[in-house]
Amino acid sequence: MNEWTMDRWKYFDITHRDHVLCNPTTVEKLDGLIGLLNLDRGASVLDIACGKAEMLIRMAEAYGVTGVGIDKPPFAVADAEAKRGERVPDAELEFVLGDGADYNPEAPGSFDLAACIGASWVFGDHRGTLRAVKAMVKPGGLVMAGEPYWIYEPDPEHLAAGGLSAPFFGTHVENVAIGEEESLTLLYTIVSNQDDWDRYEGLQWRAAAEYAREQPDDPDLPEILARVSKSRDIYLKWGRRDFGWAIYLFRRPE
Ligand SMILES: C[S@@+](CC[C@H](N)C(=O)[O-])C[C@H]1O[C@@H](n2cnc3c(N)ncnc32)[C@H](O)[C@@H]1O
Repeated sequence: MNEWTMDRWKYFDITHRDHVLCNPTTVEKLDGLIGLLNLDRGASVLDIACGKAEMLIRMAEAYGVTGVGIDKPPFAVADAEAKRGERVPDAELEFVLGDGADYNPEAPGSFDLAACIGASWVFGDHRGTLRAVKAMVKPGGLVMAGEPYWIYEPDPEHLAAGGLSAPFFGTHVENVAIGEEESLTLLYTIVSNQDDWDRYEGLQWRAAAEYAREQPDDPDLPEILARVSKSRDIYLKWGRRDFGWAIYLFRRPE
């Protein structure tokens, strides 16, 4: 089951089709965080693995930010473009289809804010992500990272079932400490609760079940349903209790 037979981007497109944010944060919490950013009008923002670009678009609505969003599958970038057209048609936002790890801006170290929310594997891990994202912002710029964390010591059965390695994720306090070790100043965190997680996970179960009713002849359907069922069981058995999620806001020193 770990080996993909179907196109993995198709799987994520289907299972996340009802998500506005492709992470366990709510839009209300995200708006609260955006309100605290105090960005200048027209500030420049980079969002690596931007998904459907909801965060960038909310920042454009709030502050008129300019910026770049990068994501790998075409569906994410198409969603982002469509949303930009509807909500902030005049915003100077560019969406790039590609691997976030390969992104080389003309002027690294020039963004007012750079983020990577929920895709730390792009840069190896949480520390690698903070390093890469920090290098993208100007001195005094803001660094945002979204990362899971262990609430309790993970059950070895959970790790085996999920194909996870415990050291890949830290605890909440360790995620903060890694930022401080990278010479970043912690400004704020938003943490998801079980309601937030239930919504993030449950929307995937619902999307897959609805897709099965709509497309019963899709040859990928057995794999889609098997993957969702496995991930749901892991969540209900272990993840719901043991696994947390937070967005960390840091500032790079001047
Ligand atoms: C958990 S989702 C988070 C999306 C978005 N940041 C959000 O919070 O709504 C992870 C995202 O990483 C993207 N992704 C995965 N590998 C990537 C890569 N190598 N480069 C850029 N994006 C990638 C996926 O397509 C997906 O949109």
